[in-house]
Amino acid sequence: MAVLGNSNTTSLNLNPTILADEIALDEVLDMIDPLRHFRNQDDLNDREDRHVVPTQPRSIQNERIQLTFPNRAPKDYCSPSIQITLKVDASPGCGGIAWPAGEVLSNYIALRGKQYCQGRSILELGSGTGLVGLVAGALGGRVWITDQTPLLGIMQENTILNNLQTLVTVSELNWGEKVRPEIPHPDIILAADCVYYEPAFPLLVRTLSDLSGESTEVLFCYKKRRKADKRFFTLLKKYFSWKEIEDDPGRESYNREAISLLLLTKKT
Ligand SMILES: C[S@@+](CC[C@H](N)C(=O)[O-])C[C@H]1O[C@@H](n2cnc3c(N)ncnc32)[C@H](O)[C@@H]1O
Repeated sequence: MAVLGNSNTTSLNLNPTILADEIALDEVLDMIDPLRHFRNQDDLNDREDRHVVPTQPRSIQNERIQLTFPNRAPKDYCSPSIQITLKVDASPGCGGIAWPAGEVLSNYIALRGKQYCQGRSILELGSGTGLVGLVAGALGGRVWITDQTPLLGIMQENTILNNLQTLVTVSELNWGEKVRPEIPHPDIILAADCVYYEPAFPLLVRTLSDLSGESTEVLFCYKKRRKADKRFFTLLKKYFSWKEIEDDPGRESYNREAISLLLLTKKT
């Protein structure tokens, strides 16, 4: 398996062997000094590590943006590009704007095209504006876009703006809570930029595990921000194995931005 983003000092090494060694060492050090992450000088030297949530680039209120994702899958060569109109508004929370990992994942889904999405049941976790799920819906997937209550309004507006109400359903799904019975166990789970708040790590892992079976494909687009993110992968490895998606031509360029696109598979 590839070592992710090895030319970038901000990326996290997700090679399972190296990760296992680092995690084992971390666990021993944590037992000796449980608060060491809050004092760790390396972490504090990294400017991004001072932020618990992603830095907001600027205040964005009620703006519209247009995003285009080339639909390059061979059998869809007649289809136009996927065009999404997105309302972005930071007032309901950090999910109200479009994050780079979401664009990377949207781009990859568009690359896989209709063959990948059509007729399959797809669920997006932490959808924010709904962008990734809307692209999957535009490609014919039966999609659930989910997030916490404050984001549901903007997700609904974006679904209507793109005329995708027949394929895309908006629903509340708080990680760690019991999944509502009307939300199906999906064929594909999508998650972009959902690793940023440490107390939510076990909740996200639980929801991923609750929703996944052996054959569920989880496309997980991750932007490394803090060294503490490693703790998420410590929890994740109890239930999932993963590998980097290698057939994305944009990979080298987003790896440089400390973004990785992973395929997670539930352990049996
Ligand atoms: C950084 S944003 C990413 C949004 C979107 N996926 C994107 O890439 O643009 C993280 C999203 O996770 C959602 N989130 C955070 N904690 C959550 C929780 N406990 N349950 C459900 N969603 C949560 C936030 O509301 C937010 O929309």
